[in-house]
Formats: sequence, structure tokens, C-alpha cells
Amino acid sequence: MLSSISKVSARQFSSTASSAYKVAIAGAAGGIGQPLSLLMKLNHKVTDLALYDLRNAPGVAADVSHVPTNSTVKGYGPEDDGLAQAFSNADVVIIPAGVPRKPGMTRDDLFNTNASIVRDLAKAVAEYAPNAAICVISNPVNSTVPIVAEVLKSKGTYNPKKLFGVTTLDVLRSSRFLSEVVGTDPNHEPVTVVGGHSGITIVPLLSQTNHKDLPKDKYDALVHRIQFGGDEVVQAKNGAGSATLSMAQAGARFASSVLNGLAGEADVVEPTFVDSPLFKAEGVEFFSSPVTLGTEGVKKIHALGSLSSAEEEMVATAKETLIKNIAKGVEFVKANP
Ligand code: NAI
Repeated sequence: MLSSISKVSARQFSSTASSAYKVAIAGAAGGIGQPLSLLMKLNHKVTDLALYDLRNAPGVAADVSHVPTNSTVKGYGPEDDGLAQAFSNADVVIIPAGVPRKPGMTRDDLFNTNASIVRDLAKAVAEYAPNAAICVISNPVNSTVPIVAEVLKSKGTYNPKKLFGVTTLDVLRSSRFLSEVVGTDPNHEPVTVVGGHSGITIVPLLSQTNHKDLPKDKYDALVHRIQFGGDEVVQAKNGAGSATLSMAQAGARFASSVLNGLAGEADVVEPTFVDSPLFKAEGVEFFSSPVTLGTEGVKKIHALGSLSSAEEEMVATAKETLIKNIAKGVEFVKANP
């Protein structure tokens, strides 16, 4: 009892922590953006919610603003310096702007369209919210995160502790799909997912769960479903987009964890795609692994822990692909600054 009281007091009197945050969402009127805006409106740490989109953000903002939580909500379009107003002084900027997949497309097929959208939003972050924690949802995450990093480096505002690729949907899917196989409650089936956020770069560490002895056919099918689960949604939506509702839930969970970290809460850990020392020596600049989030963003990047031989192989394959995906983002910014 005493320890929990002292934890609460430590939180309340921490010198760096606050409990009032401005969160900006770019792409707020989209399939992900709308439910994500709602979920962030429900977060009590958010006192100022700024919704930016090329179209219809004021409408989404007016709608969400009627939800009775203690925050203001404003919507902005590109006119009247809307982006500057939306981003200025934001503590967290969440970016789900861009186009989603259609059946038959990989996330990499989105590169040509989304790369320039993310590049331009990164320039705006550098200018108007240089201290913000940036959560990148726009695909392909394995390349869009390096794009943001390159832009911020070129502007002199890159802080590797505050740039995150959101891979949380892979984590949620892993819990859900594993629980379906073993017949348990997904709330109690945490799964660590490492690597990146596309197909074979998504590596669920099932050997670190209580179900490391799944029969090979079930294990292989489960890993495949986790890696390509997004395709189920793309196919079911049949041309109308990709995961939006589950992604909004995943994005809100991740952004809420970032806020919990900023507020000085203890033991906030999420897997996320960050500038990581884990495999830099092998040329992999960004990698997703469990990260403890703190008042300055990344507090500690955790190693992968013990892996099965199948997982070792998957990580090796993921690294090869990630090197290419990351280089593609870096080269894009060099060629199109
Ligand atoms: P959507 O097309 O429904 O919404 C995208 C929104 O972005 C639109 O409202 C559009 O007007 C806006 N937009 C486009 N350019 C913009 C700009 N320059 N500034 C501000 N807003 C801009 O797409 P949806 O389904 O919301 O997906 C968004 C992105 O999220 C896609 O790239 C998709 O691949 C990605 N995604 C990522 C996931 C992840 O796990 N990280 C999971 C699912 C989707």
C-alpha cells in the first residue's frame, strides 16, 4: 500500500512530468484518423487535440468536440496556416496521413504516394513542433520512419528518442490470433513482436509466451497469419481500404503509452520501430523491439532476449529486408529533399 502511495506522489510531484498535453493528428479525417481522434479525445492526459487533414478536419473536430472530456478540439485544413497552428507546441504528433492498400498491394506499393506526404509533414514537425514525440502510422512504416529521420536531420531537429514507427497493430493481432489458437483470453496473452512492420519483417516471439510448444503446422500458420493479417482486412474491405478501426485502437494505445512515459509513469513498455543500437553494426539503423518510454521519449531499448532457432532465422530475414526498406527511405529524401 505504502509503495503505491509513494508512486502516486512521485508522479504528482515529478519536476519534468505534466498531465496536460497537446496531441496533433495529421490525416485526422481518414479511416484511421477519425476513430483515432475519438480515442485520443477520451484520453484524460490530452487537453488540446488538434486535428489536421487536407479535407474535413473541422467537421471531424466539431463532432469529436462534443464528447464530454476535459479537452479542446480544433480542426485545421491547409488554408490559413492550418498546419502551423495544428502542430505548434504539440507534445505528440501522430501521422496516419496517406493512402491505404487495395487488394493485391503490398505496403511497399504505397511508397510513391506516401513518401512525399510524410516528408512534407516531417518538415512541418521540424518547423512547428521540434520537441514533439512523433508516432508514424503511414505505410510503409519501415521506410516512412527513416524518411522522417532524414528530414529532421536535415533541419537539425532530429531526436532519435522521439521518433516512433507504430507497430502496435502487429502486437494486438498476435495476442488475438494466438488466443484463438490456444483458446484463451487475448487480454492475458501478451506477445512481443520485433523487426519491422510488413510481411516477413514482422517477427512474433512466440517462444517467449506460455505456448512455445505449438505443433509445427499450427505454429507456421499462426506466424503467417500474424505477418499477413493485414491482408485479411484489405481483402474483406475489397478496395475500400485497410485496417482502420483496429489500427485506431493500436495507435491510441501506443500514443497513450507515449503520453504515460512523458508523464513520468514507471514501466511503460511497448514494442516500436525506432533508431536502435541493436543491429546497427550490421547496417540496420532502425529496428522494432520492446522500448521503455519515459519523460524524454525512448528511455531504454531492450534486447530481444532468448529466441528459438525459427525466430533467429526470421530475425535474420527481417534484417536483410529492413536494410533495403530503410535505404529506400533515406535515398528518397536525398533525391527529393
Ligand atoms: P485514408 O485514405 O482513409 O485516410 C488518409 C487521410 O490522410 C485522408 O483523410 C487524407 O485526406 C489524409 N491526407 C492525405 N495527404 C495528407 C497530407 N499531406 N496531410 C494531411 N492529411 C493528408 O487511409 P487510412 O486507412 O486512414 O490509412 C492511412 C495510412 O495508415 C495508410 O498509409 C495505411 O497504409 C496506414 N496504415 C498503417 C498501419 C500500421 O500498422 N502502421 C495499419 C493500417 C494502415
